[in-house]
Amino acid sequence: MIDQTALPARLVYVRYTRPEQVAIAIRTMVVRGAPAIGVAAAMGLALAADRSRAAKLPDFMREMEASATLLRGTRPTAVNLFWGIDRVMKKADMSSSVREAKEAVYAEAKAMEEEDVEVNRNIGKSGADLIRNGDTVLTQCNAGALATVGYGTALGVVRAAVEQGKLVKVLVPETRPALQGARLTAFELARDGIACTLITDTAVGYMMSQGRVDCVVVGADRITKDGYVFNKIGTYQEAVLAKRHGVPFHPAAPRSTFDLTRTHDQVTIEERGAEEVVEIRGKRIAPKGVVVANPAFDVTPPELVSSIITERGLLKAPFEENIPRLMS
Ligand code: MRU
Repeated sequence: MIDQTALPARLVYVRYTRPEQVAIAIRTMVVRGAPAIGVAAAMGLALAADRSRAAKLPDFMREMEASATLLRGTRPTAVNLFWGIDRVMKKADMSSSVREAKEAVYAEAKAMEEEDVEVNRNIGKSGADLIRNGDTVLTQCNAGALATVGYGTALGVVRAAVEQGKLVKVLVPETRPALQGARLTAFELARDGIACTLITDTAVGYMMSQGRVDCVVVGADRITKDGYVFNKIGTYQEAVLAKRHGVPFHPAAPRSTFDLTRTHDQVTIEERGAEEVVEIRGKRIAPKGVVVANPAFDVTPPELVSSIITERGLLKAPFEENIPRLMS
């Protein structure tokens, strides 16, 4: 996988052979983005299966469960992580020998990798018509090729609109503290020759008030059955400002991001370390001993959402009714 912590200065590929390494990579955001960590965790389980020397199925399953528990503990908010792990573990569970289980685990992880790009292309097709020629699209964080296996969700919609021949500009907030917007979204848009303007997170309201945003398209880490959208910190303020200024707000997400088992008050928002806030790329910017809060995600309520762009088309209100229909 690409080491996303090294971008944009260096494009480095890292290679892992053990599930423990994959777990560290997810926790430290070498790989990040909801769909990408789901597939990475599935691949971590494939490595666990490959390394297992267990002769009996119960022993093999015990080893697999230990790796699944390790991977589940890496990050709490993006549901795709748990979806990826559950999907692979279910295949192992259904097997009747170690050999069969190993084959099933490899095949499922590989299938998830291949499906992801296809799903993102379909998200792009579903959402491309929401973007008009000449539009400026505000996003948040990185919901692009880097956050998925390829093509991206929110940036997949932008790519599909560009493929239709439209001129599209993407407004990219830097996305403190980990700077996914500045480091990753600006990097991948530049590589694809898609126009992009980088702004500070604090400039979002001003840009909206000046009529310099035509629509908002963001990714999602979890969408609960009551229609609440969990995404990178800063998304909620974009949604509130979009409502204030009459700008449409569209999360773009695959079905693997929907959580039919929880309502919004049952989801853990990841709190990351203070060092991400008191330092910028290793340089201290705040006094020693300052108290820090660092929520990595926020929650946007359904009344601020215009439509959710999925691989099966556009999802509209009432979300509580339409989300289960999408998932059936
Ligand atoms: O903390 P990150 O970088 O993993 O957060 C990523 C986001 O919030 C993305 O917007 C989300 O995962 C959607 S990616 C297609």
